[in-house]
Amino acid sequence: MKFNSKALMLALLIAASAMFFSSCKKSTSSADNHLASTPLYDTLGWFIQGGKGSVAGQGTVMVNDPDNSGQKIQAGRLAIRTVVKTALPMIAGNAQLSVYFPTLIGELGANNSTGLSELLTNFTDFVQQAVSGQTGIYSGLSMVQAHRFTTSESMGGNPRFGDANHLTADSSDFNVFVGVVAQAATKLNVPNSVIGQLGALLFTTEGDVVQNKK
Ligand code: HEM
Repeated sequence: MKFNSKALMLALLIAASAMFFSSCKKSTSSADNHLASTPLYDTLGWFIQGGKGSVAGQGTVMVNDPDNSGQKIQAGRLAIRTVVKTALPMIAGNAQLSVYFPTLIGELGANNSTGLSELLTNFTDFVQQAVSGQTGIYSGLSMVQAHRFTTSESMGGNPRFGDANHLTADSSDFNVFVGVVAQAATKLNVPNSVIGQLGALLFTTEGDVVQNKK
């Protein structure tokens, strides 16, 4: 697995800070912020379209949505959704992480995929907003609320994170989680340099997600 060594994690954190403070947004006027882009978003959109060599297009370009016939989707979002869609079953099925997903696993066992669809949308929205610099995309819970049993109710329903014995996640869980996302991206042939940047971005949320850091 690619995210194992502490050194790599440190490098990723540094890369994340650099990316957050210097990311060059191509269209950031308040009127069209929903079409803002970054080199990473453009790169993701380029590869999902089967592009080769240097990136020659924006992640905001609209392409056919393979999951919703007749609909279009931003290429960058499609790339992100594809990684998230591959990663979610791997995460919920991971021995260390599954204890945090009892609600989702219960629903899937009862052939109810509503929660999974919502999670796919919300997770994709979150990453799209963070990667592209677009605003108003994510409307889910804050990362702190979503990753604490007692505050993780979605839309007035039951808590979706953990249970009375698993109230919050620790750093080890977080590292496994990011490692599984990296594995999913590797499975999809996402280039290593791009996986590194995505991993770096995920690590910027660690302070909010990990709430019982020892
Ligand atoms: C790596 C950074 C992470 C990001 C960016 C992230 C993002 C998200 C987002 C956007 C949601 C949906 C919130 C909502 O619906 O309002 C969510 C839910 C959740 N996350 Fe995370 N998460 C991360 C790490 C983790 C880790 C490390 C764990 C477990 C150890 C975890 C477990 C969960 C669970 C159990 C839910 C609720 C799932 C459900 O709806 O059934 N997440 N996360």
